[in-house]
Amino acid sequence: MAVKRIGVLTSGGDAPGMNAAIRAVVRSGIYRGFEVYGIRKGYEGLLAGDMFEMNLRSVSDIISRGGTILQTTRSKEFSTDEGVKRAARMANVFKLDAIVVIGGDGSFRGARALSKEGVNVICIPATIDNDVSSTEYTIGFDTALNTVKDAIDRIKDTAYSHERCSVIEVMGREAGYIALNCAIADGAEACILPEKEFNIDTDIIKPIIGCRNRGKHHYVVIIAEGIGGTLDIAKQIKEITGITTTATILGHLQRGGSPTVRDRVAASLMAVKATELLEQGEMNKVIAVKHDQYVAYDIDEALNMVKYIDESMIETSKMLSL
Ligand code: F6P
Repeated sequence: MAVKRIGVLTSGGDAPGMNAAIRAVVRSGIYRGFEVYGIRKGYEGLLAGDMFEMNLRSVSDIISRGGTILQTTRSKEFSTDEGVKRAARMANVFKLDAIVVIGGDGSFRGARALSKEGVNVICIPATIDNDVSSTEYTIGFDTALNTVKDAIDRIKDTAYSHERCSVIEVMGREAGYIALNCAIADGAEACILPEKEFNIDTDIIKPIIGCRNRGKHHYVVIIAEGIGGTLDIAKQIKEITGITTTATILGHLQRGGSPTVRDRVAASLMAVKATELLEQGEMNKVIAVKHDQYVAYDIDEALNMVKYIDESMIETSKMLSL
């Protein structure tokens, strides 16, 4: 089937680099002779028929901007069977031969549901959490890591000056990739991940006391948001150790900001691969990074994959915080 018209949407939580991906879908799509429609606000916009034709200039000056110019939602209606059917109908009304979905696994499950209704899709992984099961890397992860690293560096400056313990909660939903990478990058004394059972005495208090006995005077404890109870953990550290302890929940500042080079390049290469697949008539795929190469999996295969946190990184983090 020769593709003539495609749609592009961003869905789920925004991520730095989504604009770079939109730009590359539009530019490479037009280069290949497609008409490209921008769909606003994710699947909500598809349901509403809220879309417009984009041209080469529609994506000028967006590669350096965080967020997504198309905006994004987590659509309630689209999570129902009726919603998916209505969205598929709307894709037909606009004669979209395929839709490029930029988002995470939740958005890809929506894309798979659309494909079962006869709408072709190609998925591009973008989330700061890096928790898309089929890929080693998701757009936005590197920018978020650098943002969190900067924030923790600043908190460490003051923790050092006052000899305090800093408990810092980072995003990641049920995944600990942001927490673990920043624990290594910032030399955290303890890092608590949703993927691992944890005990406050053995996993936080004991390492802190051990570090104090070896001459340290300030401590960083990173808590992945999937663990929860950050304020209470900080309170307990203070009560048990007597060390003045502050708690910081970094929150949404982790999602914003200008994308790093890594995210701009990854977004551009993934999007170009997406339009290349469409040109070749290859549909219903998820773009992924495997051993640093860009590959594509069938959407069912991609969604059935399981991704594990790297145990050796956990050991490394502990070893280097001694
Ligand atoms: O998936 C990205 C993410 O930022 C998660 O880390 C976090 O759990 C969630 O989105 C927050 O979502 P919202 O912005 O809707 O509160």
